[in-house]
Amino acid sequence: MADTTELLDEGERLDAERLRALQLERLRATLRHAYDNVPFYRESFDKAGVRPEDCRSLADLARFPFTTKADLRETYPYGMFAVPRERIRRIHASSGTTGRPTVVGYTDRDLATWADVVARSIRAAGGRPGDTVHVAYGYGLFTGGLGAHYGAERLGCTVVPASGGMTARQVQLIRDLRPDVIMVTPSYMLTLLDEFERQGVDPRATSLRVGVFGAEPWTEEMRREIEERFGIDAVDIYGLSEVMGPGVAQECVETKDGLHIWEDHFYPEVVDPVTGEVLPEGERGELVFTSLTKEAMPVIRYRTRDLTRLLPGTARVFRRMEKVTGRSDDMVILRGVNLFPTQIEEIVLRTPGVAPHFQLRLTRQDRMDALTVRAEARPGAGPEVREAAARAIAAAVKDGIGVSVDVEIVDPETLERSVGKLRRIVDLRPRP
Ligand code: DLL
Repeated sequence: MADTTELLDEGERLDAERLRALQLERLRATLRHAYDNVPFYRESFDKAGVRPEDCRSLADLARFPFTTKADLRETYPYGMFAVPRERIRRIHASSGTTGRPTVVGYTDRDLATWADVVARSIRAAGGRPGDTVHVAYGYGLFTGGLGAHYGAERLGCTVVPASGGMTARQVQLIRDLRPDVIMVTPSYMLTLLDEFERQGVDPRATSLRVGVFGAEPWTEEMRREIEERFGIDAVDIYGLSEVMGPGVAQECVETKDGLHIWEDHFYPEVVDPVTGEVLPEGERGELVFTSLTKEAMPVIRYRTRDLTRLLPGTARVFRRMEKVTGRSDDMVILRGVNLFPTQIEEIVLRTPGVAPHFQLRLTRQDRMDALTVRAEARPGAGPEVREAAARAIAAAVKDGIGVSVDVEIVDPETLERSVGKLRRIVDLRPRP
């Protein structure tokens, strides 16, 4: 592996001690900024009996109250902004499955910071100035498209702003414009894979070298599938609108061992999802972020609902987070057993005869919840192969997760394909 130290930016070159000092300085300024300019934070700090100046060490952050998605909804649309509306240069919003969307805002400086962290992410993924980057994350209120776009430009790449959808045209663009890097959700990458095959084009013969995949959970099994079928490096990018968008954390291509959190801008904690207690490094829990440099919408101890654990840095000074296995909201509790869609993904992807497309259907039978795994047969898989696959999946779920599920193997190309973030769970239970 070539020495890439000279490519690191100033933040990535900090040593651990200077990083901690910078974080504390930025944290104190952020707490002050939030307290002085956002009535919500003033009230919540006052209620908890803490003042910004009480934060004398990074550990003191634990004394401050959490912020939740519900808090953002209640202050909709602009209640969390810490600067006058005229200084807000851009708005994004996250759709949310129910109720009001949550709106986020960025000043000029926030947009510059965002572009910097995404540029850093693409570089960590193996992208280089002069590369062509095909962006197939959706453009619009979703942060994926525009976030990736400005980061790639900042790095000095040529951007193809394809956005999501029009799958046949995406394949055409990849063939004709010869991008080096693709940025897209892993599930939509699989949709593109089908389209390559439908057009009779070998996906391994493209110019693509690196894929930067995120916005939804995906597993090591999925990485293997994508890397083998496309002949590329597949790395993970993480982020969320409330904290910034894509580019909060990124996996380095040279280690592929979890995502380095860009800790000079986003301070992570992992807490017990029930008690809220801060957990020691290495323990699994809910990821919580405090922004360190944001102007328009600072967030203090924002509960992401994403489950992971913190690990020491390897390829960078920053700490890593393990690949997110799921969100607490996506957890299915089936007859007392907790189950995440990623656990099913691991099983489906290692089962012969089935394609990497599956859906989880939740129903209620005799007051008991039941789960059906619908997986798609690979083309050419006959009845015997399908039956063996169904048995193998059911047995692996029973042995590995400890619960019985039904498995249906359906015909090729029958399950709905992703055009962006995929929803794995179809909840058909009667509403309470
Ligand atoms: O999904 C931002 C993004 C865009 C990240 C493009 C990466 C690439 P939201 O729409 O606000 O923002 O959704 C954020 O998506 O809390 C996670 O649950 C999930 N998520 C994002 N990245 C990953 C990932 C964008 N790499 C929510 N692995 C987050 C697992 C992810 N889940």
